[in-house]
Amino acid sequence: MIKRIHDIKNDITVDSIVCIRGWVHRIRKQKEKSFIIIRDDRGDVIQAVCPSNLAKNLTIESSVEVKGRLVKDPRAIEGGYEIKVNNLMVYNIANIDYPIGEYQSDEILLDFRHLTLRTRKMINVGKLRSSFLRYAREWFQKENWMEVTPPLLVKGAVEGGSTLFEVKYFDETAYLSQSSQLYLESMIYSLGPVWSISNSFRAEKSRTVRHLAEFSHLEAEIPWIDLSDLITIQENLIYSLVKNLIELNRREIEFLNKDVLGKLKSISTPFEKIKYEKAIDRLRSLDCKVRDEEGYERAIEWGDDLNIESERELTKNATNPIFVTEYPVGIKPFYVKQNPSDENTGLAVDLLAPFGYGEIAGGGIREDDLTKLSNKIKNSDLKIDSYSWYLDLRKYGSVPHGGFGLGVERFLRWILNFEDIKDVVLFPRTMSRILP
Ligand code: 4AD
Ligand code: MG
Repeated sequence: MIKRIHDIKNDITVDSIVCIRGWVHRIRKQKEKSFIIIRDDRGDVIQAVCPSNLAKNLTIESSVEVKGRLVKDPRAIEGGYEIKVNNLMVYNIANIDYPIGEYQSDEILLDFRHLTLRTRKMINVGKLRSSFLRYAREWFQKENWMEVTPPLLVKGAVEGGSTLFEVKYFDETAYLSQSSQLYLESMIYSLGPVWSISNSFRAEKSRTVRHLAEFSHLEAEIPWIDLSDLITIQENLIYSLVKNLIELNRREIEFLNKDVLGKLKSISTPFEKIKYEKAIDRLRSLDCKVRDEEGYERAIEWGDDLNIESERELTKNATNPIFVTEYPVGIKPFYVKQNPSDENTGLAVDLLAPFGYGEIAGGGIREDDLTKLSNKIKNSDLKIDSYSWYLDLRKYGSVPHGGFGLGVERFLRWILNFEDIKDVVLFPRTMSRILP
């Protein structure tokens, strides 16, 4: 029976005959014997020793099926066991010019991302991403939220017109969705708390280590809540994701960055909450500067958005993520509900990761008043026609509600302490990269 290497290693039966399928990860040919490290389709590896006459044509990444006796040999790399091969079947002899070697520039690895996926780094990233999705789904199921699949071809902006990707939609112009929020909002009236994981698209004109043009977006929306309920939901979800990852994905995390587990283990709830106003006071006391429109440096002040430098200042000594609440209405999108106790601020909340990794989630309570919301849309650069359906939600049985969006790659970049967000996505899309 054909087995996976993981299953063989989990239940070692010395001298049993095993059969595996995989790819030649590495090969060392000697006169009599050849030593092959075989990688299976889950990225696990085992050594196979094979008479050299069987292996003479084999190249790196050739696909094979080997059958032989499992023996213990402390010299065998990757686990102290090896397969003494008596049958080797070749599916395909790989071209000799396999472009991915041990030391390769980042650009080459990105140019050949379809092959880089076979490196152990990307295998571990792929496994972590899959686990993240599983734990998120388990958490929402346990809490009785309904999973939905919103449309991604849309007519309106959610997060501002400047980062929209335009697409030709038959005879009309449409856009790739920046966020599923507006559609999730429409669903809470009949499906209750809803959530989705979809790709969101942003035509980000800047090249930064934390922006992608396409990212995995976990979004949630729920009726009849206030800001503090919404914060608690995010806190519980994030804590449960971190806990599951460090308990159940220790191997992958240690492979990718052995230094992070200690820091992650010390994360605990509740997370700190700080009002935007207090955050600005703190940043001023730390002498934080921003650049004005003419490019001159000045002290940060109320009304400025928090840029990456100020987010870093706020979180550099933190262990836990930090919630920043009640931003000025002017720096948040049209849908944010005005604060009933202070008309200059909105009930928005961003979650900042510790150690300067910046914003990982954004959300808040939505404006549920029809007049205020339609005035906001009219006074912005948005085309009101594309939002009449959205305004209906405030005409027919409007209720207090809120939600949030968590960037999956932002979250994983923080967890792994990776510099570049491109490293936690299998096929990164940026301003300069759409292939492969
Ligand atoms: O803060 P954002 O723009 O908020 C929204 O889209 C809300 N409509 C979500 C909601 O309330 N349902 O995006 C949410 C999160 C950010 O905090 C960030 O983690 C991630 O999405 N994100 C990006 N990740 C990678 N590349 C980009 N260009 C991103 N833009 C946002
Ligand atoms: Mg945001």
